[in-house]
Amino acid sequence: MEHTRITVKASGTYEVIVGNGLLEKTGEYIREVTKAETFAVITDDTVDLLYGETVCRSISEAGFTVYKFVFPHGEASKCSDTLLKIYSFLCSNHISRTDCLIALGGGVVGDITGYAAATFLRGLDFIQIPTTLLAQVDSSVGGKTAIDLPEGKNLVGAFKQPKLVLCDTDTLNTLPEEFLIDGMGEVVKYGMIKSEPLFKLLETRTIDDIREISAEVIEKCVSIKRDVVEADEFDKGERMLLNFGHTLGHSIEQYYNYTGITHGKAVAVGMRMITDIAERRNLAEAGLCSRLENCLEKYKLNVQVEPAICELADACLNDKKRESGSISIIICSGTGKSSAVKMPVGEFIDFLNK
Ligand code: NAD
Ligand code: GLY
Repeated sequence: MEHTRITVKASGTYEVIVGNGLLEKTGEYIREVTKAETFAVITDDTVDLLYGETVCRSISEAGFTVYKFVFPHGEASKCSDTLLKIYSFLCSNHISRTDCLIALGGGVVGDITGYAAATFLRGLDFIQIPTTLLAQVDSSVGGKTAIDLPEGKNLVGAFKQPKLVLCDTDTLNTLPEEFLIDGMGEVVKYGMIKSEPLFKLLETRTIDDIREISAEVIEKCVSIKRDVVEADEFDKGERMLLNFGHTLGHSIEQYYNYTGITHGKAVAVGMRMITDIAERRNLAEAGLCSRLENCLEKYKLNVQVEPAICELADACLNDKKRESGSISIIICSGTGKSSAVKMPVGEFIDFLNK
């Protein structure tokens, strides 16, 4: 068993441990970071069948009391109804402020468990055990927690940093390829916004190699996210760079009613569209867009969509990241070189259309 530790210094300081064989040792790792004696594991039904028993056994063999709450997998569960059920489960098991929640699963489990931890009894500790590539490289690190409302995704949330993140790369062996591809959308994004070496590594590999090099890829992505979060934990500036491809990506997801295209593919299209515009306006080096396309192709992310960019402009203006009267878009001038460009809403429509 090999592992690497990456320290994140935000409003709380914590480690992200990346390696294989970590789940079996959950009990030992959590002992390092909390004085809690009782843990509530929150997971979904798919992940529970695969890993629930291993994690709960390890916690209990380390001498702790452990309870488990399981909800149906999928984005539809990231809602107020599930949240209320989690609160009831915590009440019925007399979970107190000195106890600790554990999110075992993908971004859905991580986001709702984090939000429960931020709000139940006005806040208690939580630990992330992410089991999808997306959750390992992105959602488990940085402290954004949320639930969806019928009116939109992630509309209610809080910043709440975990006490520990355990990224067990073995869990990717059971992850269906569609979710691996989805996570790669964010991985390519990290290369584009912050790391020429990561982008070059991705250019030399394909989706078939990712499980084999997952530890290296996750470490690189988490280190980038660590730097961004440490610079701007509360999303006022630098953290916006993580939004590269996302404004157009969200509009594409909305166009397909959040069912016809996955988030990772929509972000990939958004990155490609904005890079094409940047290149045509001499804001990006020549050839960058075709380099990005070739890289996306290797990860089955270079998909075509129906709407033209001009059809997406209006939906972009509803983006959560919009400020009154202006919108910030993220542009990469080369691999690993990103910046935020703030423009009045009127100019944004022209920018996309020309
Ligand atoms: P997910 O949690 O729905 O997981 C995808 C599917 O994979 C689920 O069906 C799950 O049961 C299954 N699964 C998970 N681990 C598995 C494994 N090891 N083997 C087999 N199946 C497994 O989705 P996701 O893509 O992980 O996360 C998406 C969510 O993350 C969205 O709600 C999004 O808003 C959120 N998100 C949050 C942040 C943040 O910073 N908080 C960042 C990005 C995305
Ligand atoms: N996933 C975007 C962020 O954490 O800010």
